[in-house]
Amino acid sequence: MFSRRSDFGREKNRLTLAHHKRLRAGDAICDLTLSNPTTEGLLELPGHSAALKALADARGRHYRPHALGLPEAREALAERLADWGPRPEAHRLVLTASTSEAYAFAMQLFCDAGDGLLIPRPSYPLLDGLCQLEAVRPQPYALAYDGRWHLQPSALRAALDASSRAAVAIHPNNPSGSLFDAEGAAALAALELPVISDEVFAPYPLEAARCSALRELLPASSLCLTLHGLSKLGALPQLKLSSIVLSGPDAQVEEALERLESIADNFLSVSTPVQLALPAILEQLPQTVSTIGERVRGNLRRLKSRCEGSAVSVLHAEAGWSAVLRLPALLDDEGWALDLLEHAATLVQPGYFYDLQGGPYLVVSLLPRSRDFEGGIDRLLERVNHHCRPEAKGSGPSGRQPGIR
Ligand SMILES: Cc1ncc(COP(=O)(O)O)c(C=O)c1O
Repeated sequence: MFSRRSDFGREKNRLTLAHHKRLRAGDAICDLTLSNPTTEGLLELPGHSAALKALADARGRHYRPHALGLPEAREALAERLADWGPRPEAHRLVLTASTSEAYAFAMQLFCDAGDGLLIPRPSYPLLDGLCQLEAVRPQPYALAYDGRWHLQPSALRAALDASSRAAVAIHPNNPSGSLFDAEGAAALAALELPVISDEVFAPYPLEAARCSALRELLPASSLCLTLHGLSKLGALPQLKLSSIVLSGPDAQVEEALERLESIADNFLSVSTPVQLALPAILEQLPQTVSTIGERVRGNLRRLKSRCEGSAVSVLHAEAGWSAVLRLPALLDDEGWALDLLEHAATLVQPGYFYDLQGGPYLVVSLLPRSRDFEGGIDRLLERVNHHCRPEAKGSGPSGRQPGIR
């Protein structure tokens, strides 16, 4: 009765089951996976109240359908996006109701059922689901790590076949925090396929001085769709507003815009109030970006100083909200995550969630409050010490943490 593309499997993974069990038991868990910036008490973002008030603009009583987005909203966003790349022309900017929707529109623009889409590995898991819904075949190309993540042109070519229609670049990538360099951009351009560049984390450099837009590194002959979203840019995921900037050869951009207008016209999913409020929302953005930037950079510093000299290494991350940790190969990704949940009441994500291979790897969010973050990392290091020093077993924090049921 049901379609194959709506079959996402109904089994929960072992970590989710174990986490739910502990929550049901009322246990206090230190959550190092928190990445929802609106989570109660996680961040003080005072600009948000003013931005949300703007949603009450009386003009929002009238429905003004505009498939690509209201011109004044696109103009205001184009102005702000100049902070993270060349200023886009407002008429080459399309509003969508989320970055996920922007991906879906890009897939509908380039792919028919069964076509291939090149996707970096590791990357965040949502992409596989989006491909499944559009009946598109994900073609993973591996990024390699040798002290820094980078694209190996041979890996990209190996993933390519006659069905490939476009290449996704996540720049900065989640969770690896990696950016494409000039060599990576040249390898992408050499495919002569459209590029879909997800730059939602660009405002948050960690070890990079700044994140250039990928379209700055691509030749003028590359058709590129650059994705941004208020969920990361403004820490306002609940407003459901993202965008696609089109760049490349004029004729291709104009045809892509016309087709995107038809695609978007079938949904008209971006609400009028959020578009009217956009100028006010964008005003508070620098403050939000700076508050979150300080939080994630501070937590990365703490993480690196705590892990120094330990058996845990922190992988180099140019930008973003996450860090990838490499642990001793005494357990696998899932084994470490379950061990930390069971014995240290700390929740982390196993690397396999993101298709990180060759670990064991764990992924932690850099967004939690600093004291919670430090506490969680200390517990993680205690567990690693416990496993690495067999003589210490039976003493120290091998059981549950004091004060945690
Ligand atoms: C790299 C990346 N792109 C896009 C998204 C989804 O963004 P949105 O909430 O705007 O759909 C996420 C979500 O975490 C992400 O990590």
